[in-house]
Formats: sequence, structure tokens, C-alpha cells
Amino acid sequence: MKKERILVTGGTGYIGSHTVVELQNAGYDVVIIDNLSNSNIDVLDGIERITGIRPAFVEADCTDINSLRKLFEEYPGISGIINFAASKAVGESMQKPVLYYRNNLGTLLNLLDMMAEFNVKGIVFSSSCTVYGEPDVNPVTEAAPIKKATSPYGNTKQISEEIITDTINAGADFKSVILRYFNPVGAHPSAEIGELPNGVPQNLIPYVTQTAMGIRKELSVFGDDYNTPDGSCIRDYINVVDLAKAHVIAVERMLQDKSDKKIEIFNLGTGNGLSVLELINAFETATGVKVPHKIVGRRAGDIEKVWADPRYANEVLGWKAETPIEDTMRSAWNWQCRLRERGVM
Ligand code: NAD
Ligand code: WQD
Repeated sequence: MKKERILVTGGTGYIGSHTVVELQNAGYDVVIIDNLSNSNIDVLDGIERITGIRPAFVEADCTDINSLRKLFEEYPGISGIINFAASKAVGESMQKPVLYYRNNLGTLLNLLDMMAEFNVKGIVFSSSCTVYGEPDVNPVTEAAPIKKATSPYGNTKQISEEIITDTINAGADFKSVILRYFNPVGAHPSAEIGELPNGVPQNLIPYVTQTAMGIRKELSVFGDDYNTPDGSCIRDYINVVDLAKAHVIAVERMLQDKSDKKIEIFNLGTGNGLSVLELINAFETATGVKVPHKIVGRRAGDIEKVWADPRYANEVLGWKAETPIEDTMRSAWNWQCRLRERGVM
């Protein structure tokens, strides 16, 4: 018997698609809404090949309340929402702040309205370690101060957390789990789904895999003069399948009323910081493929070092990031090879 019906916004995107796989594997009945602004309809084939189930899909924009209402009428009994739908490019958000505020906040506001109208029990929200800015102390716990956002993108995550908190504190009849992701990387081990960056990648791993493939000539390492052991920046790279699994636990927690708190916030990371140079090394060791790279100047706005203290999620959710970084790097490379086989890039 199928479990509850879950609406996954942005479900054909990178983290969304991996989460749909884990939800379906756990028996949930998934409905995806995505406007395909940053993903491809073929992702549904990948999900179906992995799970044997093609999720229901509605191509629509979450900022359009009429489309959303129609979806809730066509798919009655949605118990929970996972809201991945958002614009996520930090640099672009500096150029187009209104687009970012409209898309990310408009989506959330519409979903909150629908939750009240259709008696949805809970919403899982994709937040980010970006809310901590440059932390005073590492590893970062959920109690660390929220720093002033340095981009409109980051600000949409802070404001979204506040909107959800205010709504629930005002007595809304639903729960929320806010998940602050550190740096999600890698792909499904089947290489059926993965990250599909648009144009020249801004993020490290797609740049690494595209350089290893020869699509890019050389990776630029942004700075080796930071106050870190090898001088390059440190992040907490979390495997996307591990991350996806945390969403299933969060959904279960909300729908089965496992917590008496109406709103909970968790860091999702490994607890290990890796430098850019260490990451390149891990990729090369895992795949046997070299990544030509050179050190260049710092990238404006980069955080020096940030990694998670995931103990709260480990203890309360019973969840732990388990995949070794080498396996994650191999999965990213296998996905890049699959894209080449398919003639995508
Ligand atoms: P993604 O771009 O791959 O996925 C987002 C999906 O949402 C895309 O498929 C896009 O087409 C869709 N979408 C965007 N706006 C929409 C709208 N108005 N209506 C319907 N669909 C819409 O991004 P991702 O990496 O999978 O990120 C998912 C979520 O996690 C985002 O909220 C992002 O901000 C957050 N997050 C991502 C990272 C990261 O590094 N990838 C880190 C922290 C938080
Ligand atoms: C990682 C490290 C770079 C590219 C961004 C967002 C953040 C979050 C995750 C959503 C840094 C270095 C990168 C390259 C490099 N997203 N780098 N050469 O900056 O940690 O975070 O994505 O919420 O909000 O800001 O991720 O992958 O861009 O960079 O040396 O070509 O790799 O300097 O140290 P970042 P990233």
C-alpha cells in the first residue's frame, strides 16, 4: 500500500530528483511540480529507471497560484510538501534581485496559502549554510548566529525561514522542518540522475568533472592564501543521496507527529571540512583522472571556511551522512561520463 501523497516542488531539479527517488523507494506517492526553468523533463525517465515508478508531473510555475490550486484539486489528499523550487545562482541574484525575491518568496507564500486551504500537514524547506555567512566558530551548530546575507539569494533563504517561523508562530495548523544544506555534491550511483549545470559551472564539482572530461581547459582554484592548512577554502561536501534520505526522515517526522515542536531546523552536512585542493586530490584518487588546475586570485564574496556540526540531525533524526568522499567523487564522474555518452556535454 502506498504511503501519503507528497508534493515535491522543483522535483526534476538536482536535489529534488534524488529526493523523489528516495521518497518512492520508501513507498510515498509523489507529485512533482516544476516549471523546468533549471531542469529537464528527461529526469523523469531517470527516476523511473531507478525506481520503476514514474512520478506524477505537473509542468507549472509555483508563483502562479491558479496552477497550484488546480494541482491540489487534481491530486487530492496531499499530506506534505517538500519545497525545492527556487532560483539558486548567487551571482545571478546580484544582477536580478527582483527575480530572486519574486521566485523564491512568491513560491513559498503561495505554498503556505495552499497548505491552509487544503489541510497539508507539513512542509520541508530547503535552506542553506549560506545563512551562517562566515561563521565565528567551526563546526557550525544550528545555534550559530545568522549573519547578514551577502546576496539576494542568501537573503531569500533567511527571509523564507522567517516567513515559515512567523506563520507557524501565528498558529498555522501545520509543521515545518527547515533543512540547512552545506555543499551538496555527487550523483545517484546508477548515474541515471545527477546535476545538470547551465552554461559554465559556477560551482566546484561540475567544474572539476567538466575539466576532467576536457570540456574546460583548466580549473581555477580561487585563492591559496586563506587561513587554512593548505591555503584554499574549506567546505563540507555532502553526498546528494545522503542528503535526499534526510528529507524522507523529515517528512515521516512531520506526518507521524514524532516531534512536539511545530518547527525544527537541522544542519545537513558530514561534519568534515575539505579544502579545494583536498577535494581535487580526492577526485583524482577516486577516478584516476587528472584535473588540470591552477591557483588564481580569491573569488569575491567567498567564505574562508565553513563546515557543519551535524550532531543534532544525527541524534534527533537518526540520520548520518555516510558516503565516503571518494565514492561521491566517483558518482559525480560516472554522471559526467553518462552525459557524454548521451551527447549532452
Ligand atoms: P535546481 O535548480 O537543480 O532545482 C530547482 C528546481 O526548481 C529546478 O528544477 C527548477 O526548474 C525548479 N523551479 C525553480 N523555480 C520554480 C518555480 N517558480 N516553479 C516551479 N519550479 C521551479 O537546484 P537544487 O540544487 O536542486 O536546489 C534545490 C533547493 O535547495 C533550492 O531551494 C536551493 O536554493 C536549495 N539549496 C541548494 C544548494 C546547492 O548547492 N545545490 C545548497 C543549499 C540549498
Ligand atoms: C566551493 C569552493 C570556491 C569553483 C555556493 C553558494 C551557497 C550554496 C552552495 C546554495 C569555494 C571554490 C569553486 C571554481 C574554485 N548554495 N571554487 N574554483 O561557494 O561554497 O557555495 O553553493 O545555497 O549558497 O554560495 O560553493 O561550489 O561555488 O565553491 O576554487 O571554479 O570551491 O572558492 O571555496 P560555495 P562552490
